[in-house]
Amino acid sequence: MTQIAPSILSADFMNLQRDVQNLEAAGADLLHVDIMDGMFVPNMSFGAQVVSGIRPLTKLVLDVHLMVEQPERYIEQFAQAGSDLIMIHAEATKHLYRGLQMIKDAGVKAGVVINPGTPVSYIEAVLPLVDQVLVMTVNPGFGGQKFIPAMLTKVSELAAYRDQHADATYQIEVDGGVNDQTIAACAQAGADIFVAGSYTFAGDLTERIALLKKAANE
Ligand code: DX5
Ligand code: ZN
Repeated sequence: MTQIAPSILSADFMNLQRDVQNLEAAGADLLHVDIMDGMFVPNMSFGAQVVSGIRPLTKLVLDVHLMVEQPERYIEQFAQAGSDLIMIHAEATKHLYRGLQMIKDAGVKAGVVINPGTPVSYIEAVLPLVDQVLVMTVNPGFGGQKFIPAMLTKVSELAAYRDQHADATYQIEVDGGVNDQTIAACAQAGADIFVAGSYTFAGDLTERIALLKKAANE
């Protein structure tokens, strides 16, 4: 089933409550929350307080994407804040396996993320452990960038791996440059969850989410 995860990075931060509630009413399946530390990526967003603030406003799954160096330092904080799923970058820690175990021990679903330059083979050892794999389809750090089609090979690889391994049960998510033109190729390659920030917010939310779902299934 196609699941759309609008990124609140493109929301109006001074009207975040309104935007979150409008996204839920508009048919979003998850809420994608981008955390940037100005070190792992050349941009900053916000911290766990914003996740705590959003939590009581919505029933949507909070899909938290940590673009943070040594994310282990913040896992407990983001779990306490009410994240349903915490994703950490394979490139951001020397102890990826431990980091993912820490997320699970905190009672939260765990996801691993790979940058455009990182191959699927790099995360093969953790694939049985994770609930979600996020394939970056742009370089992380900013909304509104252009989709990198070469990333689709990785999505197909992850889908094939999951078919071939009974212990691999993860969902596959794509993030960056997803719009009504690029989503179909992602769906065909085997993605289940589609993050869309700038595209969702550039028009009527209900209409945009419906257009994405329609295009994904064409
Ligand atoms: C990029 C973020 C994305 C971003 C996507 O670093 O991880 O989630 O918000 O934005 P769009 O959909 O505009 O590419
Ligand atoms: Zn993201």
